[in-house]
Amino acid sequence: MTHRPAVVVGVDGSEQAFTAAAWALDTAARHHMPLDVVHSWSIPLPPVGLGPAPVGLSDDRIRDAAQAVLDDVVSRLQATAPDVTINGSLYPGTPAAALLEAAEKATLVVVGSSGLDRMTEFILGSVTQQIVTHSPCPVAVVPAGEATEPGLETGRVVVGIDGSELSVDATRLAFEEASMRHAGLTLLHVWNAPEYDTAGIVMPDTLMLEEAHTDELRAMAETVAGLGEKYPDVQVEQRLRQGRPAKVLADASRGAALVVVGSRGHGGFKSMLLGSTSRSLLHHAQCPVLVVRPGTADS
Ligand SMILES: Nc1ncnc2c1ncn2[C@@H]1O[C@H](COP(=O)(O)OP(=O)(O)OP(=O)(O)O)[C@@H](O)[C@H]1O
Ligand SMILES: [Mg+2]
Repeated sequence: MTHRPAVVVGVDGSEQAFTAAAWALDTAARHHMPLDVVHSWSIPLPPVGLGPAPVGLSDDRIRDAAQAVLDDVVSRLQATAPDVTINGSLYPGTPAAALLEAAEKATLVVVGSSGLDRMTEFILGSVTQQIVTHSPCPVAVVPAGEATEPGLETGRVVVGIDGSELSVDATRLAFEEASMRHAGLTLLHVWNAPEYDTAGIVMPDTLMLEEAHTDELRAMAETVAGLGEKYPDVQVEQRLRQGRPAKVLADASRGAALVVVGSRGHGGFKSMLLGSTSRSLLHHAQCPVLVVRPGTADS
């Protein structure tokens, strides 16, 4: 791979971004990698037709203010982890462009689910959306708060598998993360009975469907059995649940160490950059979510 082994995190001065940076620092330390903290600055556009830009907004002053924000984050982080190499990088331009450029050389890019400009608790920030759909390496999205109440997968790494190629890539990363975090790993497959217009159609038996999905999960687990041998320290559970995949995955995120998914799965239109399961999970997850995009997971 051409990526430099570093974890990159984007900060904007918000507490939510600092939470993401602290999570990125912990992850970098576990991977024995440096952390690159990225902050971008740009000149605000003056309101059109309202005369000259406000006095005092020179390039230098804006850049200096941005540098101060970055220095503050780096020194707060460094105080908690003196042994980790932490670099601060200031980029001119938009945050998304800065992060995508930094991600070119990274192993993982980390962002908060929303930042300074957030509108509500659950809406994904626009920068985060751009990173998740365009990053050249896997992306971790860190939510603002703690889980409301711990769930069944507390402390574990959970990977959503639907049998797609990307969910196999996701499983590979999930094994690695579980091993690094000394956490158990749950292979979670969610199934749902198809909705039929019942007129004149014989509904498939639920038990039969459940059995079919149990076989499917077993087959998926066999596909990644080699990973179990590579990571013998990781305790693995296979879980089959019925319901809406995004809802079940969000529920599994309560108290989990990490949920790992592919950016795409089996369904959808080829041109879509993010499937509906991943998108909905990113809005509702209560723990960090690692999204694996095509061609970004190392073997
Ligand atoms: N039934 C499922 N059980 C567990 N995990 C799933 C399931 N469906 C999807 N996932 C996870 O979510 C990832 C993205 O799949 P998603 O369903 O969002 O995309 P898609 O199938 O391409 O599009 P869509 O389902 O919206 O048509 C998958 O790689 C997998 O990790
Ligand atoms: Mg799908």
